[in-house]
Amino acid sequence: MSNKSDQQGDSGPSSAATKSHFSGRFSEPVTELVKRFTASVTFDQRLAFVDIQGSLAHARMLARQAVITPQDLADIERGMHEIEADIGAGRFEWRIDLEDVHMNIESRLIAAIGDAGKRLHTGRSRNDQIATDIRLWLRGEIDGLVALLRAMQRALVGLAEKHTDTIMPGFTHLQVAQPVTFGHHVMAYVEMLARDEARMVDCRKRVNRLPLGAAALAGTSFPIDRESVAVELGFDGVCENSLDAVSDRDFAIEFVAAAALVMTHLSRFSEELIIWMSQGVGFIDLPDRFCYSSSIMPQKKNPDVPELIRGKTGRINGHLVALLTLMKGQPLAYNKDNQEDKEPLFDTVDTVRDSLTIMADLAAAIEVKPGRMAAAVRRGFATATDLADYLTRKGMAFRDAHEAVALAVRDAEKMGKDLAELPIDVLRGYSSLVGEDVYAVLSPEGSVASRNHIGGTAPGQVRLAVERARNRLA
Ligand code: ARG
Repeated sequence: MSNKSDQQGDSGPSSAATKSHFSGRFSEPVTELVKRFTASVTFDQRLAFVDIQGSLAHARMLARQAVITPQDLADIERGMHEIEADIGAGRFEWRIDLEDVHMNIESRLIAAIGDAGKRLHTGRSRNDQIATDIRLWLRGEIDGLVALLRAMQRALVGLAEKHTDTIMPGFTHLQVAQPVTFGHHVMAYVEMLARDEARMVDCRKRVNRLPLGAAALAGTSFPIDRESVAVELGFDGVCENSLDAVSDRDFAIEFVAAAALVMTHLSRFSEELIIWMSQGVGFIDLPDRFCYSSSIMPQKKNPDVPELIRGKTGRINGHLVALLTLMKGQPLAYNKDNQEDKEPLFDTVDTVRDSLTIMADLAAAIEVKPGRMAAAVRRGFATATDLADYLTRKGMAFRDAHEAVALAVRDAEKMGKDLAELPIDVLRGYSSLVGEDVYAVLSPEGSVASRNHIGGTAPGQVRLAVERARNRLA
């Protein structure tokens, strides 16, 4: 097929389907490799339905503005609905020589309905078309991810509610620090995911603006009505500068940044699950449906799913850097570089969607082992701060109390005992302020119950946090 053949070409269905599009300008076709290198249809066909939705809104506006006739519009609508049905049924033949999703659909429309199809692109460019498609598509995906973020939060709230009173060691530096309730620990992730949800909702506001009407870069000489297209497509308004509308992808970058934070939170949770499930810790077990065995070690049950989520987080971070780098050197307005925005963006959506879906299921199915947690909290002097606080309440300055307890811990460690296991006269050796009531504060139950303020780990506070989250997620 020579591009020259275009010059003789009319709009006959077969020629429209086989020729390259604006080849009148050129004297030789691109090579096969360049064609493949340049084409985006292998991946941007995912935008087909929003592309048609945008085209129909554009065509209706052109008809309202008397740029095309009502008959043209009727033909375009009929043709597009056929194409939509064909794509839906997997009957549409995507052609790499037609470069991208836009040219594939337009070419097919012209083949089906003739001249009216050739009028669709009046006052429009692929530059404002693709920017519109991505925004329409991403808006829908954000809505789906927000629903998944809420489902994941609900799963975690359900888990926390079952364990408002289950005590485990809390860690800093991965060393036993102070007793916390498992419910409190789980609710920390609900807070993170609530912020992720808010970030997505906020990002959507900037995604939801209409680029169409910007045309190639400067606007169009046709009497278009952008506001009505924005309303029909459910946008909150129009992009107010045509050069900006076709060229910037900051909305996509912002989305991937928010997605990278979602993955970061899922990755931290995954890391904890992996640690908790290892034999040395044993705080939880995961149902078999999230685990794999080893090809050589028959005893193995590995937490492959959390490990993969942790691993895939790196890939989303990579996509964020790819998009930032893609943008940073581009002069106004559109450059073909922007075609490279799609694969990172699509993969980000797919990865976050799958990760959230699996994690929500997994979170609800975690098998908690309160006995292992209780045993662990009795090692590592988790209530040492409680003893220092106790002495402080009895009148010792906190710094002195800190030192007295440090000595007690050093001695207890030598004896191989926990603080709560030291007899009263031994404890009194560190301060005469110690009384019989000291054992209440040295117990993990007493320790968590005493942290009874908003944000604290006391079971009552966790129940309140669960209730607040339930109301927000209702
Ligand atoms: N496939 C292109 C993209 O993804 C569509 C816009 C093409 N515009 C152009 N002037 N070549 O960005």
